[in-house]
Amino acid sequence: MKVLVINGSPRKERGATGGILSVFVEGMKDAGADVDIIYSKGLDIGDCRGCFNCWTTTPGKCIQDDDMTEILGQMADSDLLVYATPVYVDGMTGSLKTLLDRAIPLLHGAFVLRDDHCRHELRDHVKSGKIALVSVSGFTEMDNFDPLITHMKAMSKNLNREFVGSLLRPYAWIVNPSLEQGAPLGDIIEAIKEAGRQLVTEGKMKEETLAIIAREIIPREEVITMMKGHYGDK
Ligand SMILES: Cc1cc2nc3c(=O)[nH]c(=O)nc-3n(C[C@H](O)[C@H](O)[C@H](O)COP(=O)(O)O)c2cc1C
Repeated sequence: MKVLVINGSPRKERGATGGILSVFVEGMKDAGADVDIIYSKGLDIGDCRGCFNCWTTTPGKCIQDDDMTEILGQMADSDLLVYATPVYVDGMTGSLKTLLDRAIPLLHGAFVLRDDHCRHELRDHVKSGKIALVSVSGFTEMDNFDPLITHMKAMSKNLNREFVGSLLRPYAWIVNPSLEQGAPLGDIIEAIKEAGRQLVTEGKMKEETLAIIAREIIPREEVITMMKGHYGDK
């Protein structure tokens, strides 16, 4: 199985998203997947200009020749796309959104009806596989991920891919410092790896596994006290 992971965190491998992804990818590789990781931050990817040349004069090809040219090939060829992002202003990061805006050359411009909804057809060379989300948040509540999940599900339909679930870790910034202080988080780390294995071998991640990953590390009141200690009073 060919997997393309796109990490939208500006903190790349050093961030909370990157930390979770490294374990998740280990699990996917254990299960035999061929995994590539790219970081949207720092790539040469111009904003979509909205010219629609990729649907008219140069079908399937953007008029901007930048890093997106190679990424479009990788996306087209992947069985599983993993979009990874911290929650930023209740959605994905800007660099990941810019990259995904530039993915429209993978689609044909004409409309077709799919499940009684207008969609675009995929170009012939584009695989119709799966999409999964990996995300972390600063806040503690799981509903902080809701707008992002809704967006991912909608995007999956437009790309004619099956949305196969979300690996979510709230207040993820606490994971690495807690591990460094010897906190017992081994179950979370093992569950992240297991989720990677499950996604490759079973095509989805089990609810029980995802619940371990998202479990409470410290009570919310303590999180609030910690943040006050860190940032001070208003
Ligand atoms: C510009 C910005 C916006 C953010 N917006 C949210 C938000 O809307 N909700 C939330 O729970 N966390 C928010 N966060 C916190 C991040 O999701 C959190 O710090 C995350 O752990 C960062 O992941 P990273 O280390 O992989 O970059 C925001 C952080 C930044 C820098």
